Amino acid sequence: MANLTQQLLGVTFQSPVLLASGTCGYGEEYASLIPLDEIGGLVTKAVSLEPRPGNPPHRVAETPGGMINAIGLQNVGLDRFRGEKLPWLRENLRSARVLINVVGHSAEDYEAVVSGLDSDEGFLGYEINVSCPNVKDGTLFGTDQQALAALVSGLRALTDRPLVVKLTPNVPDIGVYARICEEAGADGLSAINTFPGMLIDVEARRPVIGNVSGGVSGPAILPMGVYLTWRAAAAVSIPVIGIGGIRSGSDALQYILAGASLVQVGTALFVDPSAPVQVQAGIAEYMKRHDVARLADLVGALTIPGRE
Ligand SMILES: Cc1cc2nc3c(=O)[nH]c(=O)nc-3n(C[C@H](O)[C@H](O)[C@H](O)COP(=O)(O)O)c2cc1C
Repeated sequence: MANLTQQLLGVTFQSPVLLASGTCGYGEEYASLIPLDEIGGLVTKAVSLEPRPGNPPHRVAETPGGMINAIGLQNVGLDRFRGEKLPWLRENLRSARVLINVVGHSAEDYEAVVSGLDSDEGFLGYEINVSCPNVKDGTLFGTDQQALAALVSGLRALTDRPLVVKLTPNVPDIGVYARICEEAGADGLSAINTFPGMLIDVEARRPVIGNVSGGVSGPAILPMGVYLTWRAAAAVSIPVIGIGGIRSGSDALQYILAGASLVQVGTALFVDPSAPVQVQAGIAEYMKRHDVARLADLVGALTIPGRE
């Protein structure tokens, strides 16, 4: 078996494959489907200070090559997360790493969630979600350079745990936002969140999604995700986690060759819950076939003809 371990964020990940935020609940919901402790880890559903009911239905629909969702960051809120969800993660995940996805309406909200969680055990660090297209202020911090810098440096001052910022694809140059996060003290970046989109029921002449618009994910966004990961990774020296449309080892390897140190699998879980296990096996098979001993040797190992 190839060595899939990766060293980053101060720890060893046993595999580069994580479950993406919002597609695996808080872990427990997914635990009967795959051996969770045998993958790299998972990112929880977003946690906000207050419980959120989410958006009206329909909240998800299939699109060509993917899906559109506008869940609206429904979640149990900080207190119930600490009391009911985190204990399960603490007790059940020994080798898989846990990142907690954090959202807020204001910098104070994000800070309250991070301060509220920081002394608890059972997780590695935070994925700061500044990139949700499905709520009114979801991309406020992800698209405003000053607000982003202030948010990340404020959070940096509050915690020594790894701070990963999840970037939005909806900016003219993702490299600029990647650098802002690095300079403000982020330990890593996740790229990317969903693209805003819309689906219309022509018979009813109404939007399919209750929220009118939603975030598009799945195989349709893979080339954009790979490109934006490549751009973000080229702009910074902190590690990047590649996300968007990954279904196979070869999809994940596109992200890794583009510069991702880890990857996350989201929408593919709705089609085949065992997708992350297959992604891992596909990476291992590639490494064996190409005689690659360490996964780290593949990170950013893309060759561009004429630019070697
Ligand atoms: C149903 C659903 C819920 C999601 N919820 C969140 C969330 O709470 N926080 C977040 O940062 N991203 C969320 N995402 C975005 C995913 O984590 C991921 O960035 C995106 O779907 C692209 O990856 P994929 O094509 O593999 O799904 C959600 C995606 C889906 C499909």
